[in-house]
Amino acid sequence: MRKNIVAGNWKMHTCKDEAILLASAVNKKVKEEVKNDNTGVVIAPPFIHLSLISQVVDTERICIAAQNCASEPKGAFTGEISARMLQSYGVKAVILGHSERRAYYGETDETLTKKVNLVLENNMRPIFCCGEKLEERESNNHFEVVKRQIENVVFKLSKDNFEKVIIAYEPVWAIGTGKTASADQAQEMHEFIRKLIKEKFGSEIAENTTILYGGSCKPSNAQELFSKPDVDGGLIGGASLNAEDFTAIINSFEK
Ligand code: PGA
Repeated sequence: MRKNIVAGNWKMHTCKDEAILLASAVNKKVKEEVKNDNTGVVIAPPFIHLSLISQVVDTERICIAAQNCASEPKGAFTGEISARMLQSYGVKAVILGHSERRAYYGETDETLTKKVNLVLENNMRPIFCCGEKLEERESNNHFEVVKRQIENVVFKLSKDNFEKVIIAYEPVWAIGTGKTASADQAQEMHEFIRKLIKEKFGSEIAENTTILYGGSCKPSNAQELFSKPDVDGGLIGGASLNAEDFTAIINSFEK
């Protein structure tokens, strides 16, 4: 059976001391207040803090993820961080295809395919983000857009590799806007994605794939979102910067 996961994407927030404080607070709260061991907890701090944070938290309980990686394995690529480097620091997962990276850094399906493959080759799990823009939803193209994003990248993987992928559905209009997709809108898209996976890889893999929702998820709406049968947790931006809110979201599952 698939696992519920709550992943915190810290984005470009926290200086060194703030990162240590936040990670320590999350570590303490998860230890004391999260009773359900089956809920996976992930935090994705900025690259520069990864090594430090992995010494601050119990990495048996809290999985450390990166927010991106290079699309090339190594070489003369000034400023880039490779998947292999991340793996050597104990990073277990990498967020790929976040809408901010697609929009501001021009990431294409082609670059993402390379990154997904490198992450898998280095024994980490891709957290693959997809989601439509507001105009795409308003013109009723949201299913088509998400389908294309998934088909062009993670559906090119072998069955064995696809099993390691975590999908995050993040409608762009809901990210950082305070505007959340309703639980029904999230469920509708998650069900659609699971159906696509079933058609491509069969029902066992579809049932085992964790599909996260992301976009203004917070303690006040997490419970309703997570109560939906195909919503297996969240990719949390803003609310992951507050240990209390993040822990409350982790504790929002009924199932
Ligand atoms: P948000 O961000 O929770 O701040 O809307 C979510 C994300 O971008 O992953």
